[in-house]
Amino acid sequence: MGVKKKAKRKTTKKQIPVRMAVVGCGYWGPNLARNIASNAGTHLHALCDHDAEQLGKQAKIYSGAKSYRSFSKLIDDKDVEAVAIATPVGSHADLACAAMEAGKHVLVEKPMAGTIADCERMVACAKKNKRILAVDHVFIYSPPVRKIKEIIDSGELGEIYYIDSVRINLGLFQSDVNVLWDLGPHDVAIVDHLLGKTPRSVSAVGVAHTSSGLEDMAYLNMDFGDSLIANFHLNWLSPVKVRHVIIGGSKRSIVYNHLEPVEPIKVYDGGIELGDSVDERRGLLVNYRTGDVWSPQIDREEALKYLMDDFSSCIRSGKQPLANGAAGLRVVKTLEAAQYSIKAQGGRITL
Ligand SMILES: NC(=O)c1ccc[n+]([C@@H]2O[C@H](COP(=O)([O-])OP(=O)(O)OC[C@H]3O[C@@H](n4cnc5c(N)ncnc54)[C@H](O)[C@@H]3O)[C@@H](O)[C@H]2O)c1
Repeated sequence: MGVKKKAKRKTTKKQIPVRMAVVGCGYWGPNLARNIASNAGTHLHALCDHDAEQLGKQAKIYSGAKSYRSFSKLIDDKDVEAVAIATPVGSHADLACAAMEAGKHVLVEKPMAGTIADCERMVACAKKNKRILAVDHVFIYSPPVRKIKEIIDSGELGEIYYIDSVRINLGLFQSDVNVLWDLGPHDVAIVDHLLGKTPRSVSAVGVAHTSSGLEDMAYLNMDFGDSLIANFHLNWLSPVKVRHVIIGGSKRSIVYNHLEPVEPIKVYDGGIELGDSVDERRGLLVNYRTGDVWSPQIDREEALKYLMDDFSSCIRSGKQPLANGAAGLRVVKTLEAAQYSIKAQGGRITL
């Protein structure tokens, strides 16, 4: 009797969850903890905060996770593979570099750091220690921005002429950074991701209305050359919350309202067309074209879910995440230049 050959079964290799710790259990850290705990690619192994009260609140929710008051004790824990850092901006670089030196991969909050020099130190540290360094540029993982990227890359909008964004609300005043460094990283990261271009120059104005001297309103302009500009209005003093972005193209334009739960993106098939004849062009006769408006289907998944998917799979594969250290550095280069411009009353700073 012939021996039956064992049938080869195709198995899909399941990724072993990355054992992670959250450092900083204040306002934003709990969002990271919730997503790490619920993502198939990550496991919430530990929580760390030097404030016992903040740590205690999260420890109550995630009773299976270890608790650390000391960051250095946390990074001595051999079972921690990666840390998510949600502490004040000024501490990002030191904590991230110490974690990477201890062999941990790092996901750091936006902005990656408060200076270009600190970002460069973090990028060099990641390279030296062969660690994955990711930045929480959360919006680039959000379903609406993913869809916008898909539409732009398909060429449907034609040539991009401008991006105009309003990101305003009342509060949350930060004690260590101004509105440019608090809200600005979102817009700068979105534009960096959508356009894949770095600005030629920036100009910004900002004003402070409290004794802290930290600007609570700012207007930032980025010039990319070739008549492509981006403008951002950032404000902590607005009585209403607005998260509104227009991306204007030569063929179509997108209006993206992040607060609209059902149809956050609308594509407008409208714009201008110059007349065909030489006379019409000389006379700058512009025809207005108004066409259909439609809303693409957008999934409802939380952006942090996609970020955790990307971060954990890059740790296992060695690939670079979408929002990697280089992207974090590019964003901070723009913010630092904009800060100089604010000091110079809006003077243009070349990058
Ligand atoms: N991605 C987003 O949309 C988003 C939103 C809000 C805040 N953030 C970012 O998250 C970071 C934290 O902001 P927040 O508003 O949560 O601040 P927060 O002050 O509310 O919380 C920071 C926490 O870190 C703890 N901490 C500080 N230094 C520590 C250390 N060395 N070791 C352990 N714990 C330490 C503090 O005790 C505090 O509980 C900032 O970088 C901010 O820009 C991102």
